[in-house]
Amino acid sequence: MRNIVIKSVRLYGEGEPVDVLIVDGEIREIAADLDEADAEVIDGTGQILLPGFVDLHTHLREPGREDTETIETGSAAAALGGYTAVFAMANTSPVADSVVVTDHVWRRGQEVGLVDVYPVGAVTVGLEGKQLAEMGTMAAGAAGVRMFSDDGHCVYDPLIMRRALEYANTLGVLIAQHAEEPRLTKGAVAHEGPNAARLGLHGWPRAAEESIVARDALLARDAGARVHICHASTAGTVELLKWAKGQGISISAEVTPHHLLLDDSRLETYDAVNKVNPPLREASDAQALRRALAEGVIDCVATDHAPHAEQDKCCEFAAARPGMLGLETALSVIVETMVRTGLLDWRGVARVMSENPSRIAGLDDQGRPLAVGEPANLTLVDPETEWTVRATELASISDNTPFEAMTLPARVTATLLRGRITARDGKARVGL
Ligand code: NCD
Ligand code: ZN
Repeated sequence: MRNIVIKSVRLYGEGEPVDVLIVDGEIREIAADLDEADAEVIDGTGQILLPGFVDLHTHLREPGREDTETIETGSAAAALGGYTAVFAMANTSPVADSVVVTDHVWRRGQEVGLVDVYPVGAVTVGLEGKQLAEMGTMAAGAAGVRMFSDDGHCVYDPLIMRRALEYANTLGVLIAQHAEEPRLTKGAVAHEGPNAARLGLHGWPRAAEESIVARDALLARDAGARVHICHASTAGTVELLKWAKGQGISISAEVTPHHLLLDDSRLETYDAVNKVNPPLREASDAQALRRALAEGVIDCVATDHAPHAEQDKCCEFAAARPGMLGLETALSVIVETMVRTGLLDWRGVARVMSENPSRIAGLDDQGRPLAVGEPANLTLVDPETEWTVRATELASISDNTPFEAMTLPARVTATLLRGRITARDGKARVGL
């Protein structure tokens, strides 16, 4: 493997530019004006170096819906978005509720080699919420599954959730909850509020999320277990997280880029590209989520990258599947909503996109400091550029980005996984 030198780059966007030498997958030296003989040079002038991003919530659709995304195309999207590790949700077909499926996803991810794909195991058999899946077997497999979720579905039965937390605690793994009380969201397609009412769309009330967040905080407290809340979407959830953390409960939470930038005023067109679970809320919720992310009440950003086929999106609103692409636009949306607004600096971006998700998932080789001897899982960002999102130019097979035609700031120019370049200047190095 060739040595790499990243020239004249500012670490975390701070201080004077330095050169970073990468040898054998590690950061070997950081200094001004390193000798670049024999090394592949990446010009980092004007750019910022960050630890590689970690996504706790990605849907790669393989096995089962390879017409919408595969581990290969999703890995390419991840590398282009600056990710070095992603957690692939279990709602595939077949469901990842057995070690056969989780180990397959892990191995295929390693074969593709663009990003570490960590399979998320299902909490319950078939995501049905009735019977616990064999979490221990999945955790003991080649993939060493460390996170479990029925995402797409809520583990709604409080007794099953309680047992899942207890079981997870003994295994040292994490339960990630898609917080949605199903009795309150039957037939719901959009945030319950004035916009949905006016447009005749059946509403998904905030309380459906918040009641599960409150319940699970209490269950985690009593089990002495950790719980992670997927895609927090309401101001009320923020208040509950604040309360639970104040009580010393081991609760963490993620927010998606789309819930930080978009709101339910977009429903106007009835374009199902705006349909997602949980739904786009009101502008006041987005503001509360931004503040919570800045203050650490919400720990991290997760994309909830959810590719869907055209026939599942270009149809009547009620029939369309919920979900949005996110991997390739995440950084830009975070810069738009959090950096340009002064809520986070680049250290903060490293914290919410790399360090915190890595810590929540218990990865020891991701989210590491930019320092000599550390694994070279790195993301190079051009903070000054702007680009216009075009679905057809994204690596994902599917086209359901809600950011189509938007001009967004900043872009990932290179991603390195253990010292190998996995993406550079808009091209994923597939097959390398
Ligand atoms: C996700 C999907 O399509 O798998 N959809 C979504 O709207 N977020 C499932 C999920 O994350 O809930
Ligand atoms: Zn979900």
